[in-house]
Amino acid sequence: MKAVVHANKQGVAGLTICEMDEMNPKAGEVRVKLKTAGLNHRDLFVLVRHQPTDPPLIIGSDGAGLVDAIGEGVDGIHVGDEVIINPSLGWREKTAAPPHGFEILGLPFHGTFAEKVVVPADNVAPKPAYLTWEEAGVLSLAGLTAYRALFTQGQLRKGMKVLIPGIGSGVALLLLQFAKSAGATVYVTSRSEEKCRKALELGAHKAFDSNGDWEQELGGEKMDLVIECVGAATFNKSLQQLIPGGTIVTFGASAGDVVDLNLRDFFYGQYRLIGSTLGSAAEYKEMLEFIQHHQIKPIIDKMYPLDQFAEALQRIEKAEQLGKIGFHI
Ligand SMILES: NC(=O)c1ccc[n+]([C@@H]2O[C@H](COP(=O)([O-])OP(=O)(O)OC[C@H]3O[C@@H](n4cnc5c(N)ncnc54)[C@H](OP(=O)(O)O)[C@@H]3O)[C@@H](O)[C@H]2O)c1
Repeated sequence: MKAVVHANKQGVAGLTICEMDEMNPKAGEVRVKLKTAGLNHRDLFVLVRHQPTDPPLIIGSDGAGLVDAIGEGVDGIHVGDEVIINPSLGWREKTAAPPHGFEILGLPFHGTFAEKVVVPADNVAPKPAYLTWEEAGVLSLAGLTAYRALFTQGQLRKGMKVLIPGIGSGVALLLLQFAKSAGATVYVTSRSEEKCRKALELGAHKAFDSNGDWEQELGGEKMDLVIECVGAATFNKSLQQLIPGGTIVTFGASAGDVVDLNLRDFFYGQYRLIGSTLGSAAEYKEMLEFIQHHQIKPIIDKMYPLDQFAEALQRIEKAEQLGKIGFHI
């Protein structure tokens, strides 16, 4: 089968599209013939974490398609079922942190940038009928991350003011859609005027320049909650926009892992800083129910054929996208 494989060299230079052996599902697993797959910033990080000396790896965490083979002991799933893949492996219950053994599809296990992928049967769910194949294929990783960050960790409630920096991110746009649907007032930032304009069209209350003066832009308004996935470039500005006792949830660091933190300001402000990462099977189920209830569709930036993986990765690396990038397979 055709697959995008990382081997021999670090970074994008180690990626090729080539033939790989099809895998057969073992007990408790299913094989999915993919129709679409979704790109995430994680796929770029994987190209650095997966070492040239490691066995070749098919990358990719998101995808949707048809079940085409079923391992022993799997009940309730049939060949031909239309499914969406949950990339969170080994995390069932809504616990404070993932259990030992938690992994994300696409490293260390073969991922979705291929004609077929084998996953645990628990990691497929019926494709929501109102989503296109493109929307279903790009939803899972961003949707689950946004859901846990906003609701489980951020405890978002109706009427709250929420700030989401870096709205170009695929996760950030879903955060905007989820928070709006839950009755929050949403403020966003971007380095792109065009992305700010589109965010306003999608229901953001205010959208302003990530590199500007946020206090001035907000005119003294303070936030109950900030969901941070940009990282060092915006973290302290985000923190400064909280009400006393407000919460900042962080799950990403596209623009740097390390920040200076003024501890005195932090403890006088009685702020709460909460880490988050992806989510459990329980939250995946809740997320699918939530989006179906509110008929939320992920915004697609651009779809590529699989052999144009390099162009797609370049687009996300340069942050040219607004929303999700995907592949037709
Ligand atoms: N922990 C987890 O489980 C988990 C899960 C999903 C994602 N993440 C992380 O969350 C982040 C977002 O993921 P994604 O796939 O949605 O990423 P993405 O689509 O690549 O978006 C990143 C966005 O961050 C903003 N940005 C990047 N560099 C910036 C800078 N120097 N200054 C200001 N803004 C900057 C940009 O927004 P504008 O273009 O609007 O300026 C960009 O579109 C990544 O770091 C990813 O690794 C973590």
